[in-house]
Amino acid sequence: MQDDIIPASPPERRNFYGRIRGKTLRASQKDYLAEDLGPLTLTGVTRDANPTRGLVDLSLFDGKPLWLEIGFGGGEHLVHMAVLYPQVGLIGCEPFVNGIAMLLGKVRQADVANLRIHPGDVRDLFEVLPAGIVQKCFLNYPDPWPKGRHHRRRFVTPGYLGGLARVMAPGAEFRIATDIPDYVRQARNEVPLAGFVMVAEGDKAWDDWLSTRYEQKALREGRGPWYMTFRRGALGGLGHADI
Ligand SMILES: C[S@@+](CC[C@H](N)C(=O)[O-])C[C@H]1O[C@@H](n2cnc3c(N)ncnc32)[C@H](O)[C@@H]1O
Repeated sequence: MQDDIIPASPPERRNFYGRIRGKTLRASQKDYLAEDLGPLTLTGVTRDANPTRGLVDLSLFDGKPLWLEIGFGGGEHLVHMAVLYPQVGLIGCEPFVNGIAMLLGKVRQADVANLRIHPGDVRDLFEVLPAGIVQKCFLNYPDPWPKGRHHRRRFVTPGYLGGLARVMAPGAEFRIATDIPDYVRQARNEVPLAGFVMVAEGDKAWDDWLSTRYEQKALREGRGPWYMTFRRGALGGLGHADI
């Protein structure tokens, strides 16, 4: 989509795989949401009939390199990265309210200042972030959508990957961790079509990796993790990327 073409109304989106509300929140979690979610929410991300690219407010990152985590779950990996890399600005997005509340608790404990949240769908960010701004992106244990007829709802499909490719800088790193062999197959096929090159894969995690709740669950249930690293190519997508 070109920058000057504004859709009259947002396109319909499919439901999330999981719920966006789960167990009843603890009193402390309600406090985190009431007190911290507002200040930590990235401003300028609108999803209405008149989305405007470039209005998202990134000034708080003060020119730091920008990293993105998609579907941060309970936030352990996101906060770990924010602590490890104070020279970077991190955006995490996650629509699941219980996960957001868990993240906010961890942010309070770790006292990190270089992290902001979009409490919603990552595609909202793809619509408003300037092209080529994201230097690194993490997709940890994306929703598996195990049934064959639902594979087109996975993140590693053209609709999502085109948006990601647009906002990622040439040479930027895109990491995927998953425990689902068929997800690996689909990622190997689809991610390069969106303009990325696979640079590494295997069962050994990145040196700065922090195991997530879903990884722990996979290990308990006997499924092995697989880690893939891609780089955004300098040129546009080879296939169907919307850039
Ligand atoms: C299987 S969980 C993994 C959570 C976490 N990354 C981990 O490894 O523990 C996948 C997460 O992605 C989130 N998610 C799904 N679709 C999303 C989307 N379009 N934008 C942002 N987050 C999304 C879900 O709410 C869920 O929390």
